[in-house]
Amino acid sequence: MPRKIVARRSAIHGNGVFAVAPIAKGERVVEYKGRRRTHEDVDAGESGDIDSGHTFLFTLNDEYVIDANFEGNTARWINHSCAPNCEAVLDEDDGDDRTRDRVFIEAIRDIKPGEELSYNYGITLAEKHTAELKKIWECRCGSRKCTGTMLQPKTPAKAKKKPAKAAKGKSAKKAKKAKVAKKR
Ligand SMILES: C[S@@+](CC[C@H](N)C(=O)[O-])C[C@H]1O[C@@H](n2cnc3c(N)ncnc32)[C@H](O)[C@@H]1O
Ligand SMILES: [Zn+2]
Repeated sequence: MPRKIVARRSAIHGNGVFAVAPIAKGERVVEYKGRRRTHEDVDAGESGDIDSGHTFLFTLNDEYVIDANFEGNTARWINHSCAPNCEAVLDEDDGDDRTRDRVFIEAIRDIKPGEELSYNYGITLAEKHTAELKKIWECRCGSRKCTGTMLQPKTPAKAKKKPAKAAKGKSAKKAKKAKVAKKR
């Protein structure tokens, strides 16, 4: 099947991912690939830093983080938006091995060729979202709905994000494999 997406420079930030063919609402566009690392391992390292606002980490579940610095694919270039056209969906494996859980980026509306793909990273930090941290995690998505920061309000229902140092907590809706229904 021909590729439907390509990575290139983005007006939002650095590299972004763009459609090169029509993508239909509900279509599973790409898997967010990368090395499975424990939260402890990531927090002890340098791959993601709360002070830089730049990270390729994705919180997979309570045990693991996907680190797209290693074995990452095109999905790692997809930028955040406050008015996204995609969402991250968690595909939970039926077994006990949580490294086998996977994250896919799915279109939440029809996307035309040339449009940049985006999803809401759903980042919340363990610490208070101070003005300084909001600035470090400044959002430049350019949408009319832009909140100005990639950091999301800390609502009890969404207490799920990557804590402390590595900070990245892109959200993934949960979708049991082979099931249509998705739930948080
Ligand atoms: C997974 S990378 C996405 C690819 C990134 N554009 C790059 O070239 O490295 C995530 C990082 O991209 C930047 N980024 C993504 N979306 C952004 C946005 N809406 N506004 C500002 N920076 C953004 C932030 O530094 C974020 O931590
Ligand atoms: Zn924004």
